[in-house]
Amino acid sequence: MNYYNNILETICNTPLVKINRITKDIPALVLAKVETTNPGNSIKDRMALKMIEDAEKDGRLKPGGTIIEGTSGNTGMGLAIASVIKGYKCIFTSTDKQSKEKFDALRAFGAEVVVCPTNVEPEDPASYYSVSSRLVNEVPNSWKPNQYDNPSNSQAHYETTGPEIWEQTDGKITHLVVGVGTGGTISGTAKFLKEKNPNIKILGIDTYGSVFKKYKETGIFDKNEIYPYITEGIGEDFLPENVDFNLIDHFEKVTDKDAAIMTRRIPREEGIFVGNSAGSAMAGLVQLKHLFKEGDVVVVIFHDHGTRYLGKMFNDDWMRDRGFLEDEKVTALKLIERHKDLRLVTAKEQMPVGEAVALMRKYNISQIPVVNEGGDFTGALNDTEVFATLIDKPELKAEPVKLFAKAPFPFVNVNTPLEEVSRLITKDNSAVLVKDMLGSAHIITRQDIIDALCR
Ligand SMILES: Cc1ncc(COP(=O)(O)O)c(C=O)c1O
Repeated sequence: MNYYNNILETICNTPLVKINRITKDIPALVLAKVETTNPGNSIKDRMALKMIEDAEKDGRLKPGGTIIEGTSGNTGMGLAIASVIKGYKCIFTSTDKQSKEKFDALRAFGAEVVVCPTNVEPEDPASYYSVSSRLVNEVPNSWKPNQYDNPSNSQAHYETTGPEIWEQTDGKITHLVVGVGTGGTISGTAKFLKEKNPNIKILGIDTYGSVFKKYKETGIFDKNEIYPYITEGIGEDFLPENVDFNLIDHFEKVTDKDAAIMTRRIPREEGIFVGNSAGSAMAGLVQLKHLFKEGDVVVVIFHDHGTRYLGKMFNDDWMRDRGFLEDEKVTALKLIERHKDLRLVTAKEQMPVGEAVALMRKYNISQIPVVNEGGDFTGALNDTEVFATLIDKPELKAEPVKLFAKAPFPFVNVNTPLEEVSRLITKDNSAVLVKDMLGSAHIITRQDIIDALCR
């Protein structure tokens, strides 16, 4: 039989997967260390277990104790899983910037989650750092791992992530690219790899709004570098002890937008469903492509799973609201989005034109397609022309629509780009029609084009 004694034994030994499409312009071999196969779906399971086991060994964590930690979710998940197996309680403090899905996942393992405001100083009593410190003093038999300064964090990666990468690349790794948060992953992995081969270049990925890059390059901790950002898991507004700046050769900053766009590309182009820090690290790697030459072996770490970002980077509305989808190609299908659930208003050929005018007024529309008994589009009515005729000869209002109808609106298909649709809308033709995937017709007017352009 081949089985594990409990889920904790499945942590580590994650796959190294070649990146093919995103890196097609890079001459080096690019390999991703995909950490989603850990039971908590992130790399943080490694250090969570190590922090607990080291604390058990020296008595900081006692049987039946409560683990209290400020965590954005992934470390919490690792701690929560280990606590289920080992019989501890968990209370996590986190910020309201994090995905709700992350909190729900922690609660699934029986953990308690306290959500604190994001935009406060770490020293502020409401910050998630301060709240977790206060709770440790209040809750009996509790222990705070403090992943930022706890050496077991880096040590876990020194003992596991580093050796795995060394073995999996047969010692041929030349560059390591890692998003930096607490610094545990980069520092522990880099320490092991540099001991094996000091020439391996360690490239840390930072965000705009974080202090790491400037501190590395100038030695200055500059508070002016700090501002709220969207990227999750990477960057800090203080210097965690787990970041060993001596081991990191270069920090590369990636914008929230570039990180979010790359996060979406990884599953679409590589079939690997990973989170926002993987997107940031991959975007940073592409920014640094001038460093990588033929024969190089570049390893990038994908920290966590994409499911945690379904409501964010993988949600079109969320992306659009932040201006991250501005390069998106607008097609006829997009142009009907706002009214795609409404039925198209039409006028029958035999309907008295006065009734058709009343319909246009009721629905506040300026044009209406005309259909025959069989439902075919045979013409179109335009309010200005009909009004002009009726003002001269009001008695015509009882005449059938067919008498007034002009040529029918042209049809386009769902993939027709905005530019082409707008070319078809002229002085003589005020709309176009499009059939959706279910075969229902919809109208696109000048207003839909203006709305799309002004979004
Ligand atoms: C999703 C994600 N990416 C990256 C990181 C950064 O890793 P580290 O804290 O080891 O620097 C974290 C850490 O919290 C994370 O959760």
